Amino acid sequence: MHDLRSFTDELEKNGELVRISKAVDRRFELPALLVQLEKIGKAFIFENVRDASFPLIGGVLTSAERLGRSIGQDISAGYTHREHAKTYAEGVQSRVEPVVVETAPVKEVVITGDEIDLSKLPVPTFFELDSGPFITGAVGLSRDPEHGQINMGFYRGWITGKDTLVVNASSMSDLRQIYAAADEVGGQMPIALAIGVPPALLMCASGKTPPGVSELAIAGGLTGEPVELVKCETSDLLVPANAEIIIEGMVDTSNRVENTLGEFADQYGPEMAPITTVTAITHRKDAMYYSIMAGRNAEHNSIGAVSAYGMQNVVETTLREHFPNIKEINVACEPKLGTMLHMFISIDKSNDDEPGKLLDAAFATHAGLFPVGMVTKRIVIVDSDIDVYDLEDVEWAIWSRLSRADKIRAIPDVHSWEMERCTDENQASARVAIDATIDMDKLDKLVRPVIPGAADIKLDDYL
Ligand SMILES: Cc1cc2nc3c(=O)[nH]c(=O)nc-3n(C[C@H](O)[C@H](O)[C@H](O)COP(=O)(O)O)c2cc1C
Repeated sequence: MHDLRSFTDELEKNGELVRISKAVDRRFELPALLVQLEKIGKAFIFENVRDASFPLIGGVLTSAERLGRSIGQDISAGYTHREHAKTYAEGVQSRVEPVVVETAPVKEVVITGDEIDLSKLPVPTFFELDSGPFITGAVGLSRDPEHGQINMGFYRGWITGKDTLVVNASSMSDLRQIYAAADEVGGQMPIALAIGVPPALLMCASGKTPPGVSELAIAGGLTGEPVELVKCETSDLLVPANAEIIIEGMVDTSNRVENTLGEFADQYGPEMAPITTVTAITHRKDAMYYSIMAGRNAEHNSIGAVSAYGMQNVVETTLREHFPNIKEINVACEPKLGTMLHMFISIDKSNDDEPGKLLDAAFATHAGLFPVGMVTKRIVIVDSDIDVYDLEDVEWAIWSRLSRADKIRAIPDVHSWEMERCTDENQASARVAIDATIDMDKLDKLVRPVIPGAADIKLDDYL
């Protein structure tokens, strides 16, 4: 399986990576540059972060195309999240279990005891009101006490001292349950943060898997090669052998602290999470520290979009059973649309009541792990001539076809997830249902102009 550096080498050869050798401060200066780098769409290596012992790399998986390329997909004919969702679903079907190896690049340097010093890592402080420096590109590994399996996910880590940090687990994460299970048996549990792991692992850490299905095995399915794992120095956890850096630690779930980070939808996200004491750091001799810009940005969003694929599948299958007229469903995970998901469904309706029934059914559907309404802010039904993957086309339909006031409804007091920060004290907020289809009696009036045969005419044949 390709490690992260073989992919960044490829990006550099293609002129898609910039190196910055000028010394930069990790607090605010570096994040300010990350915002500007995102605009030029290049990956980056900061070779000289003041007082740090490692370079900082990022801007790697900023689009669906990059996700596909990083695991060897052919992207020459264009590659969107739709294609990547199919690739991912195939990976889930053809899972390859990980293997355990004895030696690993990530064991080239082993640091324990007094030598442990997290300040050597170039961990940025991103925003004005953040609690401090946050590790943002690490995948966390812990053991699921129910199945004994290694669980993996993305979790932000706030550095609180030379050898202490706080690993945040949202209410939807399996890690939150694993912390709760540890609470029952004394509160001590091992954890490991793997930094700079192969791209396949980054996307699988973001994806939600059903209980008992290993994210590591899906990564194996995506690449056709098993993930190589190696045992930790100070616990029986297994970690990716070809990561850049591993931080091993012991969590004390009885000792929780609040911390704040500017989150992916441009709001601060206060969290309560337990303190971890670092027991070892292992790394490659020439290790690179991988970081994802906090707040609203392309890399978080493209990796984060993978977590909506499973939901899209379940919702689509469930709704299609009852509404055979459905054409396409797009579960959009777009920071420009805020924290929450937006769902766009196209149909060939047979009567004017159908979109309203579909809207109610869609909000009431259970998306496998949680209700659709909990994470979806808005559902829009459009006619099948609208491209649900083109947000401008959907907007056009809303503002061109929405006639009666009852075609747009606000649903009050829906229980939301904690990432929606505008909720009331009961964690409830409004949802929006929009029927943007043409009324049956206006079909003749709202005919969209089309050019006959346009799809078959190629400009290249005329140049
Ligand atoms: C860049 C990035 C950062 C994330 N940070 C967190 C986090 O701090 N805490 C959390 O619970 N989920 C976070 N997530 C979402 C989790 O990765 C996702 O919910 C994952 O499925 C959790 O794995 P788990 O359910 O196996 O614990 C993040 C996702 C991405 C892409």
